[in-house]
Amino acid sequence: MDKILTVQHEALAAIENAADLETLNNVRIQYLGKKGSIQALMSEMKSLPKEEKPAFGQKVNVCKQEVTEALEARQAVLQEGALAEQLVREKIDITLPGDVKELGTTHPLLMIQQELEDLFLGMGYKVAEGPEVEQDYYNFELANIPKDHPARDMQDTFYIDPNTLLRTHTTAMQMRELEKAEGKTPIKLICPGKVYRRDDDDATHSHQFMQCEGLVVGEHITLADLKGTLEFMANRMFGEGRTIRFRPSYFPFTEPSVEVDVSCPFCNGKGCSVCKGSGWIEILGAGMVHPHVLEMNGFDPEKCTGFAFGVGLERVAMLKYGIDDIRNFYTNDARFLKMFDRFD
Ligand code: DAH
Repeated sequence: MDKILTVQHEALAAIENAADLETLNNVRIQYLGKKGSIQALMSEMKSLPKEEKPAFGQKVNVCKQEVTEALEARQAVLQEGALAEQLVREKIDITLPGDVKELGTTHPLLMIQQELEDLFLGMGYKVAEGPEVEQDYYNFELANIPKDHPARDMQDTFYIDPNTLLRTHTTAMQMRELEKAEGKTPIKLICPGKVYRRDDDDATHSHQFMQCEGLVVGEHITLADLKGTLEFMANRMFGEGRTIRFRPSYFPFTEPSVEVDVSCPFCNGKGCSVCKGSGWIEILGAGMVHPHVLEMNGFDPEKCTGFAFGVGLERVAMLKYGIDDIRNFYTNDARFLKMFDRFD
């Protein structure tokens, strides 16, 4: 009987002293396991005289129950401690400022391009594309600017080899589209894109800039159609109430050729610093497609006519948003670009 009490005291002390769950589990095995001390006491019962067996058995059971209960209680305490320790160890400081990912904004030139595309798609035009590295043939020859023609000097060109260049105007795409149509009308399209010229960069010149070409070919297309179309465009781009005027000009690929002014959106035509007192601002070049250009591209100029125009997107954006230096579009200063955030 004393032995039982000794085992019981030893077990309870070991449980109390177990500092972690692993030690506690070893104590369980030592006392309650199949080969443990309490099981050993049970085996000893066989050798006792019959009359002593019940009292001894009862005492061992009490011992076993007390040890089991003490183990469970100690386990609960240790588990709680382990959790608390883990929480401290894995603590995250949620007050640290987050890693903010800034969203980009639409580039102002892309905004103008998309506005023009929407406007002309709404009038049934197609949007065409073409290569920036272009053949001399499409950029000049088909546009009625043969080699040695003085008009080649109007556009200083980046040549890659004698027949290959960076296109100097979107008119190159106009020529590709005319050729592709194989003499079939109607044609109604715009071609926006980048163009390149060997200019020295300053506030109003950039060696890379953007244009949008417009082309309509069909029967009975007149200068009046051109004027109506451009007036509609001017009103959509610069606000209602704009008027336009044509001034005679020269382009090798159009006859007649015109330079187009829009009534100044800043002073309503009265005269201000932006329009230099004239009330008008030049925005684009245009004209009726030259009969020779139509012919070279397989159209019969007796049967069909066409108008064309080419507008510079930087110029439109600068007027629309009051930007005074073209280089702003290409230096990619985020403070400048952020001003055009449509979602602000
Ligand atoms: N290609 C001319 C330029 O870059 C602009 C232009 C003028 C385009 C008249 C046209 C046009 O289609 O008809 O200066």
